[in-house]
Amino acid sequence: MKHFVYFSPKASTSGKALSGDLMKAGRMDIAIHSLIQGLFLSHDFRRDVIFHFVFHGMPDPPKHIEIQVKDDTPISKKDVSKIIQKMLYKYKEGKKNEIFPGCFVEKKSLLKVIEELEEQGNEIFILDKKGENIRETDIEDNCVFVVGDHKGLPRKELKRLKQIATLISVGPYVYFASQVVAVINNELDARGI
Ligand SMILES: C[S@@+](CC[C@H](N)C(=O)[O-])C[C@H]1O[C@@H](n2cnc3c(N)ncnc32)[C@H](O)[C@@H]1O
Repeated sequence: MKHFVYFSPKASTSGKALSGDLMKAGRMDIAIHSLIQGLFLSHDFRRDVIFHFVFHGMPDPPKHIEIQVKDDTPISKKDVSKIIQKMLYKYKEGKKNEIFPGCFVEKKSLLKVIEELEEQGNEIFILDKKGENIRETDIEDNCVFVVGDHKGLPRKELKRLKQIATLISVGPYVYFASQVVAVINNELDARGI
């Protein structure tokens, strides 16, 4: 299985904020673009990818949202915000709640999410312009790619994550998070991973 983890320090943790301007909901637009690049193909889905959001915005951080497309997952490129909104509305304290097939919401921090993925046997990669070239990096199945939002990854978490992860770069420029996700999927496709 391949995982993307998108972290946003400001993305809203209430469903209500997603009714208005997504730019004002802690740049939820960037989160949605990234998910689309992670899970969608033209007329199909990447069913071997799990996309994780960790949102740290107000009013109730942190929220971990996990989406894997299953046969009955009601997801469409046109209304990704609706599925995120419904998941946030239906969050239940103390529970990893499955809201739709393959779609879970719970309260969990970025570090805890990554540590659990590592304990499950996944290799962790952090996306960073200064990392080693992805084309020269060994990547096996069961991999996790951690991507920041427009502000990048928080310094404190990054320091801890560097102890268990490899920093990799997809090129010499600073790209949109969604562009980075698309490049990684393309690289994995080329390698047959
Ligand atoms: C728009 S960038 C963040 C820009 C932010 N000012 C910074 O310097 O990190 C969003 C995310 O994409 C990833 N990213 C951007 N360019 C990259 C590159 N060349 N290689 C690897 N990851 C990159 C990083 O994870 C970053 O947190």
